[in-house]
Amino acid sequence: MTPADLIPVADTIPVHWLWFQVLLTVTFFFHMVAMNVMAGTAVIALVTHIRGGDASLPLCRDLAKKIPFFIAFTVNFGVAPLLFVQVLYGHFMYTSSVLMASFWLSVIILLIIAYGCTYLYDFKFDELFGSRALILSIAVTLFFVIAFLFTNNFSLMQVPETWSRYFNNSQGTMLNLGDPTLIPRYLHMMISAVAVGGLAIALYYDFIQRRGREIPDGRIQLGCQWFSAATCLNFVIGFLFLDSLPDAVKDVSTASGLFFVISLIGGIVSGGFSIVLGFVYKVRQTAIAAFCALVFMVLVREAVRITYLKPYFNVTELQVVPQYSPLLLFLVVFAAGIAVFCYMLKLAFQVGEVKS
Ligand code: HEM
Repeated sequence: MTPADLIPVADTIPVHWLWFQVLLTVTFFFHMVAMNVMAGTAVIALVTHIRGGDASLPLCRDLAKKIPFFIAFTVNFGVAPLLFVQVLYGHFMYTSSVLMASFWLSVIILLIIAYGCTYLYDFKFDELFGSRALILSIAVTLFFVIAFLFTNNFSLMQVPETWSRYFNNSQGTMLNLGDPTLIPRYLHMMISAVAVGGLAIALYYDFIQRRGREIPDGRIQLGCQWFSAATCLNFVIGFLFLDSLPDAVKDVSTASGLFFVISLIGGIVSGGFSIVLGFVYKVRQTAIAAFCALVFMVLVREAVRITYLKPYFNVTELQVVPQYSPLLLFLVVFAAGIAVFCYMLKLAFQVGEVKS
């Protein structure tokens, strides 16, 4: 038996694969931004509690109100890439999900508990006193556990050569722990979350300030410092991640390798600029550079997946059985969903302004 024997037959697709690839990449980018803000601001609030002092409480109270929103955004922006990744890579992703099914299904329960903790932290902020850090630390731990399970699944789907381990473990508890890329990949994702969480804080207070309202001293600087410090650390982790990747991924004589290297250089250059701009507190410019770095990194990740799966599969091989109406309907509903999302954000800001 060869690894290829373990891969189910791919389904047909209703329109050209590029539609799904673009939608997957775009919606995954939104998922990453929302996840980063959610997990990153939660980490920063937790560290602020641990450092202590009454002066830190107003910042934590502000963040407590925002975190549940970003859980909702993370989940909702997660559904779309989950659909598209299943359309293109379902025969890999379903298999890896089954191999780690016990952990994979537990994500729903873990997420509900984390969500509950953040609501408790928000609604009972004043009554919780010393338990604030405890409740928040449960949510943060669960975010990190969930992310670890995601990294396991989305790396396990790329390595069918390891799937035969199932015959020694059919409990649905197979992780991808033997993969040398797993830990650097995971750390790279989560340190990026802390960085973007800091940037989100800086951007939020900058936005409030530009609308003519007083903000407490040092908030923008604090957010920028978190961003730049975490991104500096992520440069180190990023190079460890790069080093752990197989040479085939970095082979510029192939189209995917060239795409990888170009995107990586784009990510490194814009990431480098974002650090410098963050350290001199140029908030909006930092955000633009960080936005570019994140876009490039999402592309890098896509190139890595393509190269890993090359011995087994290429998305261009998927058979098209034309059926345009579902995609059209999706695009209409997606556009309407984005419009409602923007309207909801506007209302949320208005309510926030009236209350404060
Ligand atoms: C606390 C909640 C969540 C966290 C912390 C989280 C975190 C992550 C992380 C770190 C990755 C990248 C994994 C990697 O490639 O190494 C990821 C990917 C992904 N997440 Fe989430 N996630 C969360 C919730 C969700 C939910 C609820 C969904 C779906 C309903 C979802 C859908 C996805 C999909 C589809 C991908 C991979 C897309 C692709 O491979 O192109 N996530 N998530």
